[in-house]
Amino acid sequence: VPPRPPLNEAISDHLARQISTGALKPGNRVPSVRLLSRRFKVSTNTVLHAFARLEALALVEARPRSGYYVRFRSSDALPAPRPGHSRGPAVPLALGERLPGFFRAMRQPGIVPLGAAAPGVELLPAQRLGRLLAKVARVRGASLLGYDPLPGLPVLRRQIARRLAALGASVSEAGVVTTVGAIEAIALALRAVTKPGDAVLVESPGYFGVLQLLRAQGLQAVEVPCTSEHGLDVELAERAMKRERVSAVVVVPTFSNPLGSLMPLDAKRALVSACAAREVPLIESDVYGELPFEGERPLPLVAFDRDGGVLHCSSFSKVLAPGFRCGWICPGRFQPEVEEAKFTQTVATPAVLQAALAELLFEGGYDRHLRALRRALKEQVQKAREALASSFPAGTRVSDPRGGFLLWVELPRGAVDAIELQRRALEHGISIAPGPLFSARDGFSRCFRLSCGHPWSPAFDRAVATLGRLCRA
Ligand SMILES: Cc1ncc(COP(=O)(O)O)c(C=O)c1O
Repeated sequence: VPPRPPLNEAISDHLARQISTGALKPGNRVPSVRLLSRRFKVSTNTVLHAFARLEALALVEARPRSGYYVRFRSSDALPAPRPGHSRGPAVPLALGERLPGFFRAMRQPGIVPLGAAAPGVELLPAQRLGRLLAKVARVRGASLLGYDPLPGLPVLRRQIARRLAALGASVSEAGVVTTVGAIEAIALALRAVTKPGDAVLVESPGYFGVLQLLRAQGLQAVEVPCTSEHGLDVELAERAMKRERVSAVVVVPTFSNPLGSLMPLDAKRALVSACAAREVPLIESDVYGELPFEGERPLPLVAFDRDGGVLHCSSFSKVLAPGFRCGWICPGRFQPEVEEAKFTQTVATPAVLQAALAELLFEGGYDRHLRALRRALKEQVQKAREALASSFPAGTRVSDPRGGFLLWVELPRGAVDAIELQRRALEHGISIAPGPLFSARDGFSRCFRLSCGHPWSPAFDRAVATLGRLCRA
């Protein structure tokens, strides 16, 4: 007797829900046919039909004489995106020109936040930071109300220098200047080492914040293609430096934005010496450096610097509190120019926020927080890759980062243009960052960046499934 469709569907829907919420995990044995038939008061035949449906959805697999198991998903088989092309100097477009409505989209209420590169605030130590803010305000009182003199609050600079020294960088407390986020640090670095009209070597695709700074400071971008695995290819960078006169190199060597790539140690060392040999200042943003999924924290470029030519920029934005806007720069031999630019630009960095962060670093527990954050981000990135694998068209390529929380997706030929995809996604209440934002030239029109900073939930699975549907159309 054929089973009544609603019954087997009810059972398969129930199990699919358990799989998507993680109640049943990859590799788990699904309750047996006998048990489910008793629990749902249906024939074993009906349960078998439910399993057939789950098998067709690639959610479970039968193992001979052992039962049904939740499948390990196919995300491991997603191929990596291909590198782009080398591009000569160009002035980047303004964000609003590249993507009309960019800032409006950021404010859209109730959006599923797959666009902005920020960690979910649920993952951040809000109570502890609140307690420490109250404590420093009480203990240090009026001393935190004045302009904090350059180069920034000594207690925080000491903690930053201590952590960098532990990685082998020759940076002392005196060599750290605190800033309003890493973006100010990069802006100051560029001001210190370039003049309007100069060209700067950048990654392609590369962080749009850097491209916007180049535009704002009248600079041109020389783009060098990167792979999602190893980031900037030093040989290609050297070739570009031979071809074009560049006044600086800007790179995100560890878990870059948007590719999530990690430059191997040898490549980092080679890039530092190639720039030193040409006397080209090397600006690094290390904002994702503390976020490897496994193993040791990768070394920043400044750990290889011997002559003060590396301007190391970072912040607490991706690990503690993007809203505090607290970052720093270790400007090496360009410290006088950087301090001059900092004074001109913002005079000082808010003292009370620096003091609270210094207290957190001093108290201990920061490394424990980082370990928990890394575990959470690793899981979120994996879940996002699984969701992409199950709902995007064949031929889609996705990066496989070893840290951070950003994925780079390249759609197959014939799929929708990324700017159009972003527009349609917004209509469905979903934000993404389309590929063309990450280049000064037209390009990456079939790519987008997906940010996995927030704890994964069924709403994100549904959003990725919607994106998959939209990009076919
Ligand atoms: C590579 C990189 N550098 C710098 C920044 C800016 O960081 P902050 O928010 O601290 O200014 C970002 C933010 O997305 C980033 O991805």
